[in-house]
Amino acid sequence: MPGTRLLSGVQFMNITIVGTGYVGLVTGTCFAEGGHRVVCVDCDAEKVKILQAGGVPIYEPGLAELVKKNADASRLSFTTSTKEGVDKSDVIFIAVPTPPLPDGSVDLSFIEGVARDIAGAMTSYKIVVDKSTVPVKTGAKVVETIKRYCKAKVEFDVVSNPEFLREGFAVEDFMRPDRVVIGVSSPRPVPAMQEVFAPYNAPVIVTDINSAELIKHAANSFLALKISYINAISIICEATGANVQEVANGIGMDARIGRRFLDAGLGFGGSCFPKDLSAFIKISEQLGCDFRLLKEVQRINAEQMERFVRKIADTLWVLKEKKIGVLGLAFKQNTDDVRMSPAIDLCYRLQKEGALLRVHDPKAIEKAKAVLKDVTFVADMNAVADGCDALVVATEWPEFKKLDLERARKAMTHPILFDGRNLFDPKEMERLGFIYKSIGR
Ligand code: UDX
Repeated sequence: MPGTRLLSGVQFMNITIVGTGYVGLVTGTCFAEGGHRVVCVDCDAEKVKILQAGGVPIYEPGLAELVKKNADASRLSFTTSTKEGVDKSDVIFIAVPTPPLPDGSVDLSFIEGVARDIAGAMTSYKIVVDKSTVPVKTGAKVVETIKRYCKAKVEFDVVSNPEFLREGFAVEDFMRPDRVVIGVSSPRPVPAMQEVFAPYNAPVIVTDINSAELIKHAANSFLALKISYINAISIICEATGANVQEVANGIGMDARIGRRFLDAGLGFGGSCFPKDLSAFIKISEQLGCDFRLLKEVQRINAEQMERFVRKIADTLWVLKEKKIGVLGLAFKQNTDDVRMSPAIDLCYRLQKEGALLRVHDPKAIEKAKAVLKDVTFVADMNAVADGCDALVVATEWPEFKKLDLERARKAMTHPILFDGRNLFDPKEMERLGFIYKSIGR
């Protein structure tokens, strides 16, 4: 493997990332930040043009600065040519979308297409790494595809290296990972993969390819399970007058359980958990296992939203022509991503009942404009409440805690606040004169 040993002792590698979405762009940029030479490839010429001009098409904290720094240092470049990427690199990462199909299974056509392009361009030994989330046994299919389409008949290794990045914290997660999983079918690519991840000082777990692929689906399903578990507990709390946050704190202090991912709310959304759960259930079914536990996780998640909408409707009685202010549109804090966002789902449901919406998000208004029609977008969070019959918190943005509640109460026709993310203190809200309803408290 060519490369130069840096003063830090790290050997830089020549790396290509195919796909510059959330995962690919963060991965490529953070590899460059670690000292590697990185080529990012994308078939979308518009996107590549933006990146070449120093722009970043997504919002991810810290990313724009790192893209600029590493492009200026000539460690990071962008192209539409897979051939250029393959020629310049020893290790080629596939980071393209694996969207869901209507039956819950995974559309692997982008992976297959990229594997073919890489195979067609290969003229010497390469390590082809799958970073996209894929069903177990996809690695074997990538091997077959490359063998079939590689005219030069050169040697190669396929590696599985699942990503565990959280949107909104992706750069931080990449630079300081809990673990790096490397799935291989032979020891040959392991030293190079260790060099690739050497700058990040993380425990590296080497497994077979099937196990690495499974680790991703098993991890995300377990995290979704944790959220549905605490949401189920929140129902018991509401029925008994207990407080779900106290319960979460109490059980979370047991190191075997842990406090993270025990926040009750409107349920999980985003481009990963819902899709990965469906895919894992489907894969299990194809392997002859009915994964009913995960179906229950999905059911609780869907029911959580329905219960919240019912809570709003029970309080306001008739929703038709009621003015409701919605705080939050992104699927969670720190991102502009509205894909599979519970907040957007909530807006649709309220609109279906005839409610008139005033909506705000610190980062996601532009993206929400493509999916939300007939709402009033409000740039200032404190102005959302103006003339409203109720206010709803739909996303856990920390800045909402700084909402001018006195102003909101005076500006509303009725001071009713539904907190779908348990951001406020019930006692304080009562003191301020709000009718306040949250989750499991
Ligand atoms: C997730 C995984 O965390 C990450 O490891 C994987 O690579 C991709 O999927 P992400 O989709 O960015 O990352 O979001 P995450 O922070 O995990 O949150 C997912 C959803 O769960 C959000 O809608 C969030 O609001 C919700 N959530 C999270 C809760 O409702 N309660 C919690 O306690 C935590």
